Amino acid sequence: MAIILVTGSNGQLGNELKEAAKNYYGYQFIFTDIDTLDITDKAQTEKFISNADPGWIINCAAFNLVDKAEKDQEKAMQINSVAVKNISDAISGKPCRLIHISSDYVFDGNANVPYNEGSVANPLNIYGKSKLEGEKAALLHFGSMVIRTSWLYSSFGVNFVKTILSKGKENKSLRVVFDQVGSPTYAADLANAIITVISGVVRNKLAFYAGLYHYSNEGVCSWYDLAKEAVQEAGIDCDIIPILSQDYHTETRRPSYSVLDKTKIKETYYLEIPHWRSSLGKCIKQINL
Ligand SMILES: NC(=O)c1ccc[n+]([C@@H]2O[C@H](COP(=O)([O-])OP(=O)(O)OC[C@H]3O[C@@H](n4cnc5c(N)ncnc54)[C@H](OP(=O)(O)O)[C@@H]3O)[C@@H](O)[C@H]2O)c1
Repeated sequence: MAIILVTGSNGQLGNELKEAAKNYYGYQFIFTDIDTLDITDKAQTEKFISNADPGWIINCAAFNLVDKAEKDQEKAMQINSVAVKNISDAISGKPCRLIHISSDYVFDGNANVPYNEGSVANPLNIYGKSKLEGEKAALLHFGSMVIRTSWLYSSFGVNFVKTILSKGKENKSLRVVFDQVGSPTYAADLANAIITVISGVVRNKLAFYAGLYHYSNEGVCSWYDLAKEAVQEAGIDCDIIPILSQDYHTETRRPSYSVLDKTKIKETYYLEIPHWRSSLGKCIKQINL
């Protein structure tokens, strides 16, 4: 039976993997988070992986607070990069496959067509830099798949969609930037895509192709569009007002365009990806309003 170790599993993606796992039989999932497996602890990581002997590791652990990362570079680098190297080292030479999650923030946003896996990364902020270093650390292992995703949200955890819904209930209007464009990703869709990849390899004997991949929902929007659709879908009476990034108080630079081209993952693993609007509707039904 394939053993799948999930790190950082109390977060958005980890929780969605727990949900998705309920529909997949014949796998042994080991769900961990910092209290059971702190991936920044090299010795603990090696020991845990050696004892569990997984065939697959899905690394969902991360430091995702983009603004905080500017002030706490050391922590961002430790969790998003050094810890990934700890995992790579622990499985070096072993047949274990690592699925590591990265971010659209490795790009600078200067493009005007979707970024593919060959596009040059040039992060604008510490979070993006730490994620780019993490990708390199993951790819040191020959059996690693790095999936860059963008604008992740879920009914679990803290995210833009949930924040807009709760603030939307308390305010008559909200100002949201409309000059940053990307593609939202419902973590449940990403979780199902990851398990589809694994089961394609384990059950259907598809070849496993290591390397970089991009995954988000289909379609493109601004944060403004996403907020507007979220309140509308939830039936919340709140005006969403478009503003420029320069009028939103933050010193952290973010890419103004971070749409990911998903052709490679769709063609390699025969994935069908839902449009962001339909997935947003599904997620909102799961959120206690
Ligand atoms: N969120 C987004 O918008 C977004 C966008 C693009 C890419 N991504 C990437 O997608 C992946 C999944 O993100 P997510 O939103 O599901 O993350 P998340 O909700 O922040 O969950 C991350 C989990 O990792 C845990 N963790 C932190 N340090 C750890 C350590 N040293 N050892 C083990 N676990 C640790 C966290 O615990 P604590 O909560 O206690 O710290 C948390 O439970 C990440 O790689 C992220 O960078 C996210």
